[in-house]
Amino acid sequence: MEKRFRIYVYEEGDPPIFHNAPCYGILGLEGIFINDMEISGFRTMDPEKAHVYFLPFSIITLINYVYTVGSSNWDPMYNTVRDYINVINQKYPYWNRSLGADHLMFACHDWGPKISRSIPHLYKNSIRALCNANTSEGFKLSRDVSLPEIYLPHGTTEGLLGGPSPSVRTILVFFSGGVHGYIREVLLKHWENKTEDGVKIQKYLPKGENYYTQVRKSKYCICASGWEVASPRMVEALYMGFVPVLVKDDYAKPFSDVLNWDTFSVDIPTSRIPQLKDILMAIPQRKYIRLQRNGVRVRRHFVVNLPPKSYDVFHMILHSIWLRRLDIHIRDIN
Ligand SMILES: *[C@@H]1O[C@H](CO)[C@@H](O)[C@H](O)[C@H]1NC(C)=O
Ligand SMILES: *[C@@H]1O[C@H](CO)[C@@H](O)[C@H](O)[C@H]1NC(C)=O
Ligand SMILES: *[C@@H]1O[C@H](CO)[C@@H](O)[C@H](O)[C@H]1NC(C)=O
Repeated sequence: MEKRFRIYVYEEGDPPIFHNAPCYGILGLEGIFINDMEISGFRTMDPEKAHVYFLPFSIITLINYVYTVGSSNWDPMYNTVRDYINVINQKYPYWNRSLGADHLMFACHDWGPKISRSIPHLYKNSIRALCNANTSEGFKLSRDVSLPEIYLPHGTTEGLLGGPSPSVRTILVFFSGGVHGYIREVLLKHWENKTEDGVKIQKYLPKGENYYTQVRKSKYCICASGWEVASPRMVEALYMGFVPVLVKDDYAKPFSDVLNWDTFSVDIPTSRIPQLKDILMAIPQRKYIRLQRNGVRVRRHFVVNLPPKSYDVFHMILHSIWLRRLDIHIRDIN
């Protein structure tokens, strides 16, 4: 793939909305990807040689600059993307040739899916790389790419990687977070403050307790959906060596073409939240150790390097895009 795959990045569009996005925080991957792409060896300056055409707008900057906070009017954002596609369609033959099917958009922000939906060919044909990979909202495994959400407070993984060995992890299962969305409501309703048998599930941590200290002491941590399906806890688990317990419905896990999530995570459907403790206690220690070790082993596929290195998250994302490009279907839906 590294030898053959070439992406053309449209040069049209000015910062801040195009070719630009923040590179830190929960949604930092948007800016990191745009920057990496522009300096990457995968980029070709010759559109005739490209397999995929990247539309370099950022949903975050679109919201920051085009959307009026608190407004229910999304038209300015829809129009900006539509105008952009019209411009490249006038100027180049590529969008029209495939009706967008070999075009790529990238969004970590939750609103990515809805904004893409306003442009039928972008929604139905293009490869959409999304953190908000909710299969009940039109995310298609065969065409779209699920992105891991990664919390990078300062834009790098410095200080985030590693944790103590399983033998010194004394908390069975940990969760701390706000009541965002219906899954967390159920979780907290059943388990809030029940500190029996190593279960430590609460809303916010009391003053003086550090989130990262707690997760590093835990064998398992709950990675529950919040307002939307994605959450940075899943990658945090792999970074810090706890086993992620995924409580998410309708979620397409990142890189599942090549990674078998069952070998390093535990899935608990929302309907089984009341049995959470029993399910985890029934996992033999040997199996837990295997899950934990496998998680440490796949960590490198989720690590952000600046500049990118082979097999890291940037390359995994490109590999997912490549697989989908090999299998595009052009649908005329006019
Ligand atoms: C797109 O293709 C169709 C049919 O092939 C053609 O009629 C139309 O003019 C093209 N649009 C643009 C903007 O090139
Ligand atoms: C859990 O503990 C916190 C902190 O002591 C408290 O504010 C909260 O009301 C408790 N919730 C329940 C359901 O007991
Ligand atoms: C996924 O999408 C469905 C359909 O829109 C929605 O009901 C559900 O709440 C979404 N999941 C999450 C966790 O937001």
